[in-house]
Amino acid sequence: MAKKLKILIFPDPRLRKVAEKVLKFDKSLQSLADDMLLTMYDANGIGLAATQVDQHVRLVVMDLSDDRNEPRIFVNPSYKVLQNHDLFEFEEGCLSIPGFNETISRPDKIELKWQDINGNEHNEEPEGLLTVCIQHEIDHLEGKLMVDYVSALKRDRIRSKLLKDFKRK
Ligand code: NI
Repeated sequence: MAKKLKILIFPDPRLRKVAEKVLKFDKSLQSLADDMLLTMYDANGIGLAATQVDQHVRLVVMDLSDDRNEPRIFVNPSYKVLQNHDLFEFEEGCLSIPGFNETISRPDKIELKWQDINGNEHNEEPEGLLTVCIQHEIDHLEGKLMVDYVSALKRDRIRSKLLKDFKRK
């Protein structure tokens, strides 16, 4: 049975750890992916990186469907920005930064590579939301957050607001 995991909230320093490559495609990887999917659906998110649940391995789960019934799992995802890209602006949210949305611009054409839960390799030039969402999630695996794209002033404001919320709980 999958279990709900605790999501780390910014500015928790564990969100800054760089995740390790997955080498073993075993039952514990499947069970972590299942737990992450449950946690993501429960929090109404569209994507979640293992870093956010304090597991520092290169694993991302996602569901971009309207009906929330198309779970996807990306193991060891990486991407390369294609030369003919433009910048695409999108208002992003993050389960580790609750209550804040930021408009961030990211390259709109990438070549994405990943492995599935069995270790098989895939690659794709994604379209639409997947393009920005996977860049956001891969940032998490590198210890990078949405707030790193905004001004230091704004980042400090978000930090103090979330710390205050945390103390109130
Ligand atoms: Ni996020």
